[in-house]
Amino acid sequence: MNAIHCYCLISLLFYRFVSSEARVFFVPEKIMQILAEGEPINVTCIYQSDAIPSEDVQIKRNRQNLKGFEFTRKGSTSAPWNRTTTGLKANASCADDGHYTCSILKEKIEQNIYIIRVVHSSSNLSHLGGDAFLQCAAQGCSGDNHLIQEVSWSHGGKKLMTDEKYDIIQNGSLVIKNADYSDLGPYQCKIVVYHDEDDTDKLIFPIFSVSLQGPPKVTIEGNKDIYVCENHPVRVLCKTEGFPKPDVVWHARLENASEESPPLPDGNELYIETFKSIHEGNYTCIANSFMFTQIEVQESVRMFLDGKGHCGPAKEGSKLPIIIDVAVFGALLIIIGGIVVWAVFRSKES
Ligand SMILES: *[C@@H]1O[C@H](CO)[C@@H](O)[C@H](O)[C@H]1NC(C)=O
Ligand SMILES: *[C@@H]1O[C@H](CO)[C@@H](O)[C@H](O)[C@H]1NC(C)=O
Ligand SMILES: *[C@@H]1O[C@H](CO)[C@@H](O)[C@H](O)[C@H]1NC(C)=O
Ligand SMILES: *[C@@H]1O[C@H](CO)[C@@H](O)[C@H](O)[C@H]1NC(C)=O
Ligand SMILES: *[C@@H]1O[C@H](CO)[C@@H](O)[C@H](O)[C@H]1NC(C)=O
Ligand SMILES: *[C@@H]1O[C@H](CO)[C@@H](O)[C@H](O)[C@H]1NC(C)=O
Ligand SMILES: *[C@@H]1O[C@H](CO)[C@@H](O)[C@H](O)[C@H]1NC(C)=O
Repeated sequence: MNAIHCYCLISLLFYRFVSSEARVFFVPEKIMQILAEGEPINVTCIYQSDAIPSEDVQIKRNRQNLKGFEFTRKGSTSAPWNRTTTGLKANASCADDGHYTCSILKEKIEQNIYIIRVVHSSSNLSHLGGDAFLQCAAQGCSGDNHLIQEVSWSHGGKKLMTDEKYDIIQNGSLVIKNADYSDLGPYQCKIVVYHDEDDTDKLIFPIFSVSLQGPPKVTIEGNKDIYVCENHPVRVLCKTEGFPKPDVVWHARLENASEESPPLPDGNELYIETFKSIHEGNYTCIANSFMFTQIEVQESVRMFLDGKGHCGPAKEGSKLPIIIDVAVFGALLIIIGGIVVWAVFRSKES
């Protein structure tokens, strides 16, 4: 290589490095990105310049090399030389939260990537009449990222507001005041996270479902000693509450142990079509639900054959309908009689 060539090459390189417009940028071109934990993460950086880069674009997080990313590099072969470096990871985690820099030659650009995780939890109604808490909140891995989160709650398709029943507290949790069995069930929370009001790039999470659970409860209304007339039907309703919805089974202990119990249902209603002395005994409604552990509650009724002789035949009509029948029949007779008399008078007149 002679001196002139060498001079030309140096001046060409000098020209390129000093006077070219070099630019390095992250795609998207933002000072921050907000990503949900578990989402794929794509860190792409592009270098554009007339200067031929002697190295590749370097992406670092908190001055360290990225961990667990797969890189692809692309570069165009003519000016402007675009050097694209893409780091991909399938599953963003808190370890990816941080301050990213992309650099090449003397160019450098910065971007913060915030990884947001959601904490949500169901709760257990431990005592009636107290306050119940359901939790749903987005948390930045780094804590001090000044992100705004909006949490909205709904239950049974209705949006919940802070009122005498509910309290939606600053951190997103829902307080159900004076909670009782009617408040049990699934609740939905929706979270939106952003940095400032005019941020168009809001991170909107899918809807999460949490539930207010309560232990099973059974009630059999009315008298616990039931007297049934022979061959009459009997129906006993066992009301159950709780969430998750309890399973209900019936269990019978008959007075005459050598008798077999009538078929017993799985479900809230016990029905015996023709009650006989052999059916006398205790009938227990057992409600079962799986709430962290298996919980079982029960209530019983005793059924006896009514021996007091006020049963009568199985289908006895009441006295009142007979009186009504007689009255209707009489009224009809009077009306028809009236018409006949009127017709007779008219035919006599004409
Ligand atoms: C990563 O992001 C860049 C810039 O937005 C895009 O061109 C590229 O297709 C993305 N790669 C994947 C695998 O999503
Ligand atoms: C370089 O990148 C820019 C922006 O992505 C694009 O518009 C341009 O066409 C690219 N040039 C070449 C030669 O690839
Ligand atoms: C994503 O990462 C978390 C923890 O880092 C792990 O529990 C989860 O199984 C991962 N998911 C996938 C799809 O790799
Ligand atoms: C939920 O409530 C039931 C009944 O009161 C109780 O036995 C159980 O330990 C509770 N579980 C939790 C996780 O609080
Ligand atoms: C929200 O605040 C309530 C009451 O101060 C607390 O019990 C709950 O743990 C908090 N939730 C989160 C996610 O910080
Ligand atoms: C039925 O229940 C009563 C009261 O709980 C009990 O005294 C009686 O022995 C029971 N009878 C049978 C057959 O289990
Ligand atoms: C119990 O049932 C058996 C068989 O039907 C009958 O022979 C017996 O008399 C019954 N005992 C009582 C106490 O009703």
